Amino acid sequence: MDSIHIQGGVSLQGKVPIQGSKNAALPILAASLLTKETSCIRNCPRIADVYRMVSLLKNLGCKVSWEDGGIRVSPVHVCCGEMRGEAITGMRSSLCLLGAMLSRCGEVVMEYPGGCVIGERPIDLHLVALEKMGVVFSEENERLRAASPEGIHGAEIIFPMVSVGATENVLLAAVLAEGDTVIRGAAKEPEVTALCHYLQSCGAVIEGVGTGELRITGRSGKVLEGADFTVPADRIVAGTYLFGCIATGGNILLEGAPFDQMEAVLRVAEQMGSSCDVTREGIYVQSPKRPKLPPSLRTAPYPGFPTDMQSMALTAMTTGVGHCLIEETIFENRFRVVEPLVEMGADIEILDPARVLVKGVARLNGKAVEAMELRGGAALVLAGLMAEGQTQVSGVAYIDRGYENICRDLRELGARVVSV
Ligand code: EPZ
Repeated sequence: MDSIHIQGGVSLQGKVPIQGSKNAALPILAASLLTKETSCIRNCPRIADVYRMVSLLKNLGCKVSWEDGGIRVSPVHVCCGEMRGEAITGMRSSLCLLGAMLSRCGEVVMEYPGGCVIGERPIDLHLVALEKMGVVFSEENERLRAASPEGIHGAEIIFPMVSVGATENVLLAAVLAEGDTVIRGAAKEPEVTALCHYLQSCGAVIEGVGTGELRITGRSGKVLEGADFTVPADRIVAGTYLFGCIATGGNILLEGAPFDQMEAVLRVAEQMGSSCDVTREGIYVQSPKRPKLPPSLRTAPYPGFPTDMQSMALTAMTTGVGHCLIEETIFENRFRVVEPLVEMGADIEILDPARVLVKGVARLNGKAVEAMELRGGAALVLAGLMAEGQTQVSGVAYIDRGYENICRDLRELGARVVSV
């Protein structure tokens, strides 16, 4: 199955459970290597990127199995050395294995993680920070070799810009380092916080969790224990269905949504005329037939409006009332969804690589469109929900990297959508 067919014009109604967070599960699975004891990581989403991380851990010699609602990892034997395979190049999030493998083995050779459609995705911040901790990088047969001949030592790391992955890699290197580490300018994304909570449950000492300054006490010579840990719900998946509700004038319950991680998103939803009520079950969202467009929207590191929800917000705005200037400040090429949306009838002007002006139109028309990356692909599915007639979205493999089953979820909300 590589395309999703959507019959548009249906307002989303009903409730949908929110899957576990991809961007929390991946670094936590990597972190399970830091101990020889078994960990059980619960609520991991059944998505392609998690499957790939599981096979990477198995390739490294870990025993890994899906059981009682979680992934059990027994990293007793880890064969140190080279990490191979497209899983590394094809999946940016395996980059967090760098810090984990350095802590576990003291060295690793891996393919350079590739860039992707949304940006060049450099790793300079990772390299500079880890070098300060005693890691030496070199190139070996066009692969990246990292080694810490004298062992990893603590350091004061000051990040000039926020990087989720680089913060995670420094955390993974610091918890077993000789001496303490301070990270200034650390990413505050909830996924970094979840990683800190997992590491703390393994016995790591980390202060300042959730803030931009993290203090990690080195544990040289001592070991971490395994842990039984539950991954939080995925705020980006919850936001995807929230904007689907806004886009179709619906009335839904996002069951188990991590509302405490979604303040900026709920604020924008309310600016667009929706009411969002937080209850024990999750977030109830009621949206007007046509949303109002806020005059501007700017993405920013957490707790700002997430870059991963920019394409969905843009899509929901296309048939709203008014116009909005959207500024993407995190990635340099995250407006790829504009072209297919304009083909469907949207009025979006690209002012420069970082800014678009969207003006609400009466309706979108169904069309065959192609997903070029994960979140843009999800946004095109939302566009299909809004459009008159049928929309076919190809390139579903991108969407499967982050969503367990977007068709199943949307059908639970009354959408007419099938995978073919
Ligand atoms: C994480 O990517 C997420 N992925 C991304 O989600 C998310 O969009 C991003 O953080 C920002 O929140 C995972 O957690 C697996 P960054 P990451 O390092 O860590 C630049 C999704 O849809 N940068 O915070 O790769 C970089 O180019 C994905 O689930 C450097 O310049 O993002 C970008 O412009 C997409 N040098 C900015 O920083 C570096 O060494 C933020 O990147 C590292 C990053």
